[in-house]
Amino acid sequence: MSTRYLSGVQPSGQLHLGNYFGAIRPHILHQDDAFYFIANYHAMTTLHDAAKLRRNTFEAATTYLALGLDPNRAVFFRQSDVPEVTELSWLLSTVTGMGLLERAVSYKEKVERGITPNVGLFYYPVLMAADILAYDADVVPVGTDQVQHLEMTRDMAGYFNNTFCGEGEPPVFKLPKTQLGTPQPVPGLDGAKMSKSYGNHIPIFARGKELKALVMAIKTDSTPLEAPKNPDGDTVFALYSLFATPEKVAALRDKYERGGYGYGHAKLDLLKEIEATFAPAHERLAELERHPDDVEDILRDGARRAREVARAVTERARRACGLV
Ligand code: ADP
Ligand code: TRP
Repeated sequence: MSTRYLSGVQPSGQLHLGNYFGAIRPHILHQDDAFYFIANYHAMTTLHDAAKLRRNTFEAATTYLALGLDPNRAVFFRQSDVPEVTELSWLLSTVTGMGLLERAVSYKEKVERGITPNVGLFYYPVLMAADILAYDADVVPVGTDQVQHLEMTRDMAGYFNNTFCGEGEPPVFKLPKTQLGTPQPVPGLDGAKMSKSYGNHIPIFARGKELKALVMAIKTDSTPLEAPKNPDGDTVFALYSLFATPEKVAALRDKYERGGYGYGHAKLDLLKEIEATFAPAHERLAELERHPDDVEDILRDGARRAREVARAVTERARRACGLV
């Protein structure tokens, strides 16, 4: 049996370099026996504008496809086109203690940031567990902030299996493993974790003047141009290391340490790497935007394939808990 990969991305507007290295790129690197979806149900916990949700969902789809997601290999779909996950989340919720959800860091952070929580926001990890368990996923590649949600998923799967699967019976749910896209969060313009909610992000498809202005705005220390610089802990160097080959990264380290090379130079080198990396994707993006119906067909076909799997797993769960 091959290893099945699964992950979701929220359609929360322009995706950025943190999303790219933390989530999208690892997804694109594993496309065989893989399920990737746009988590539009999850987006509804904080977004209540139908036109915007529709637009963001389309944008997330074109972003993935432009960056190399191949719908003939991976199953690529919209979360809400597989409504079985909402049923499965209900079954899981009945064996999940309030205490588990009350410990969710991401929920607490959102409330601290001033979001008035709806029940859906609190319930979010249960829906996420259903997303994962519905497809018998083995490995879930996500960014660092999703690690706790994966732990909770394994807890919920365990509660369900322990409650409803007798001795000697096969478990209903597989326990998935977490895979981190980047060991450290990708830093944003101010050096803190890049995030849309901090306004310190560089959109994947920024280009031209907009991209240059963002790169030039990256915060650096005040070491003068002539002086040697410490690459470790510098945001420009950290971002460059994500884009460039190991040889180029070693060369840049050398320039920092020798001195006579300023942060302005480093920023221009970074800019070149970003532009070269995404140039082909810009062209594919423009093509996809001209053919929205093709994007829709891809998502529908993905949903059809995803639903077959989710139906079978949901049926297994229904039987185990006495609904059938
Ligand atoms: P944001 O913080 O901008 O709202 P999301 O929470 O929607 O981003 O993240 C979507 C995915 O991208 C998640 O898997 C998340 O872990 C990953 N991700 C987001 N920001 C970063 C980052 N700075 N570094 C690494 N991964 C990230
Ligand atoms: N919560 C994830 C995020 O914000 C998105 C997501 C929803 C997801 N369901 C998932 C990720 C299942 C992995 C697996 O990034």
